[in-house]
Amino acid sequence: MEVSKSKEVVLEVKNMTKTFGPVKALNNVSLKIRKGEILGLIGENGSGKSTITSIIAGMQGCDSGTITFEGKEWKPLSMIDASNGGIGMIVQETGTIANISVAENIFLGETRQFACFGKDKKFGFIDKRRMNREADKILESIGCNHIKGNMMTYMIDFQDRKLIEIAKVMKKNPKIIVVDETTTALSQHGREILYKIMEKMKNEGKSVFFISHDLDELLEKCDTLTVLRDGNYIATVEKEDFNAEKIKQYMVGRELKGDYYRSDYDPSSSSEIALELKDVCANGINHLDLVLHKGEILGIGGLSHCGMHQLGKLLFGALKVESGSYLVHGKKIKDENQAMKEEIGYVSKDRDTESLNLNASILDNISIAGMDKFAIKNLLILRRNENEYVDKQVSDLSVKCFDKYQEVSHLSGGNKQKVVFGKWVGRDSEILILDCPTRGVDIGVKQFMYQLMYKLKKEGKSIVLISEEMAELIGMSDRLLIMKDGAITKEFERSMDLTDSKVIDFMI
Ligand SMILES: Nc1ncnc2c1ncn2[C@@H]1O[C@H](COP(=O)(O)OP(=O)(O)O)[C@@H](O)[C@H]1O
Ligand SMILES: [Mg+2]
Repeated sequence: MEVSKSKEVVLEVKNMTKTFGPVKALNNVSLKIRKGEILGLIGENGSGKSTITSIIAGMQGCDSGTITFEGKEWKPLSMIDASNGGIGMIVQETGTIANISVAENIFLGETRQFACFGKDKKFGFIDKRRMNREADKILESIGCNHIKGNMMTYMIDFQDRKLIEIAKVMKKNPKIIVVDETTTALSQHGREILYKIMEKMKNEGKSVFFISHDLDELLEKCDTLTVLRDGNYIATVEKEDFNAEKIKQYMVGRELKGDYYRSDYDPSSSSEIALELKDVCANGINHLDLVLHKGEILGIGGLSHCGMHQLGKLLFGALKVESGSYLVHGKKIKDENQAMKEEIGYVSKDRDTESLNLNASILDNISIAGMDKFAIKNLLILRRNENEYVDKQVSDLSVKCFDKYQEVSHLSGGNKQKVVFGKWVGRDSEILILDCPTRGVDIGVKQFMYQLMYKLKKEGKSIVLISEEMAELIGMSDRLLIMKDGAITKEFERSMDLTDSKVIDFMI
């Protein structure tokens, strides 16, 4: 453990400040990273992790402060400039272009190096074969043998496309890389590849900024952790002093008081049925029976292809019932419109593509779902009522934003998710279908959401909680159903004795 301490500092940020309008994304932050170090950055959504690393990687400038890299002032003009100088970043929210080849993505903007010319030097052609070969070499060097340069990007699994971005960064043989919440977007196999790259860089005396929401992952992979909160530097902890509770406290700035999950262990709900599936078959769903009671939190868990996300869609009318029956208040649910009429709300797993219009404002996103609550006969919107309605959601859910006119795309993950909640909770939905509602949000916001679910339950709302996190399923559910191959394999009642290992046996 002594090793990393004795190592030389390779990059140092001093007194960095960055504001976006009224938001202080970074407030006089200083930090350093050493050679051969994996430095984890941790902090709740919006604490400034992406901002500081993106400034280091040349994506944007800062208002004040300095960066020193290898003893010299570092002021990259662009990401290309930074990557030519030895610092690369795998960005949280970019992507590859689907309708070009893998090699073209890897060398995007840099294909000139493969140009060859006609005799009269008039026509420039790209030597695609050479470019593909180079791409293959890079992919192989990062241990990614199943993707080839000549493949079309759209043929590649969404999770694996992230590996193309990693290859693009690694081809420059960087001295420092930033990995910004990349692991959530990767498959397990992809993660292993990334961990190996990080390990290799460390062994070669290079450095990694590692940003992740998964505290256990950070504790395992990092040598050092630096905690940010609301744009402020809070603390740096070395591996030998890692302590999950302490770090959580640094993150939220207080002890997590009150309950995290609900504290009672009595499964409770009324006998009244909120919705019922009888022998339902659909795409990914196989003869499934299910009952949700009024005032119940019904957990649904399983491994990745068990069918639980399809079930979520089906319950919101977004996946067609092929046989069997799905009834709510005695009515068949045929489509989303009808699901909404029956007061069903849905938070989809993939909030950015399915639940939110990222280019629209908070106001528009929240008001769309609540339209029938304040419009007259669905035709005339009363601006005053609309404003009141949206203001109430924004303040009830404490969405961190400049104002309700702000574009949703600029909000942090946790705050985007609050807007999604605002859409459906605001409608007073009687039944909420929540598919991985706390995915990618921090413990502070998570706790808030758990308490909100519990409050809604107490008010008699019925909730289906679909989740990949065993702890939250066990922590929140009145009853927990385990799915496998599109069917339910096991049911557990809420109990103090329920543990992960008891449940997992039924998933595999
Ligand atoms: N381009 C931008 N425009 C407006 N606000 C921004 C922009 N980028 C970041 N912010 C704000 O700056 C703060 C820090 O954001 P960010 O660095 O992305 O946090 P983190 O990566 O820790 O979740 C947040 O309040 C965020 O909303
Ligand atoms: Mg971020």
